[in-house]
Amino acid sequence: MNASDSSFRALILDFYHGFGRHELAWRQDLSPYSVLVSEVMLQQTQVSRVQAKYTEWMCEFTDFEELVASSVADVIGVWQGLGYNRRALRLREAAQMVVGEFGGELPRDPALLVKLPGIGPNTAGSIAAFAYDEPVVFIETNIRRVFLHHFFSDLQPTSEAVSDLQLIPFIQRTLDREHPREWYWALMDYGSDLAKRVPNPNRRSRHYAVQSKYEGSARQLRGEVLRQLLVSAKALSDFEVVDERLPKILIDLVKEGFVVESGGTFSLAK
Ligand code: ADE
Repeated sequence: MNASDSSFRALILDFYHGFGRHELAWRQDLSPYSVLVSEVMLQQTQVSRVQAKYTEWMCEFTDFEELVASSVADVIGVWQGLGYNRRALRLREAAQMVVGEFGGELPRDPALLVKLPGIGPNTAGSIAAFAYDEPVVFIETNIRRVFLHHFFSDLQPTSEAVSDLQLIPFIQRTLDREHPREWYWALMDYGSDLAKRVPNPNRRSRHYAVQSKYEGSARQLRGEVLRQLLVSAKALSDFEVVDERLPKILIDLVKEGFVVESGGTFSLAK
C-alpha cells in the first residue's frame, strides 16, 4: 500500500465510523445461514426492500434444516415483493446441498460456495468475507462504484469502459486483511452514499446495465402467475391474465421447478 492507498483507507473507514449502516439486521446475526440469506436477497434488491423480508424469512425458516423442510409455496409466499423469484428456489436448493453434501455447515471456501445454486463468484466472496471474515477479493455494485470514483474518475466519457478485471488489483491492494468483514461493510456503505452524491459513477463500468422496464415485462407476468398459483391451482383458462405470453411462461416455470402440471392443471411444486 502506498500513501495514497492509506489515505483512501482512512477516508472510507472515517465515513464508516461516523455514518455506517451498523444497525442492519444481517450485520447483527453473522451466522453463515443468515449471511447466505441476506446476500442472496441483496443480489438484485435494494437494502430498504430487503429489510422487512429478511426478518420475515428468518422467522419463518430459522436455519438450513427448516428451509430444507419447506415447500416451494412456502418460500415463494415469503419471497413475494423481492422480485426475481428464482432466487428463492435456488436458496432452498442451496440449503438442501448444505445439509445433504456439506453436513449442515456452509463452506467457507469461495471455490466450494460457488457450487451452491444461485451463488456466483461475487456472492461467494461476500459470504466468505461476512460470515467467516476471510480476506477474499470480490466486487459488487457499491464496491465497484467506490473504486471507479476514486481510481478512474479522470477517464474521459469517450474512453473504454472499465472492466471488473481492471478493478480487482485495486481491491486486492487496499484490502484490510486484518479486518476484511468491517472493511467490506465500510466500502459498501461508502459506495451506497456515493450513489446519492455523485451522478452515476458506475456508467464508466463495462458491467453497467440499466435494469429493464418492469411494467408490462415477462418478469412482471411471471410474478403475477406465481401470485395466483399461491392462492390455488389453476387450468390455463383460469388465470386472471389476458396475455399471449402466458403458455410460454407456464412452460418455463415448469422447466425451472416452480410449477408442476398434471392433467392440464398447474400448481406450485412441493
Ligand atoms: N451488509 C452486508 N452485506 C451487504 C450487502 N450486500 N449490501 C449492503 N449491505 C450489506
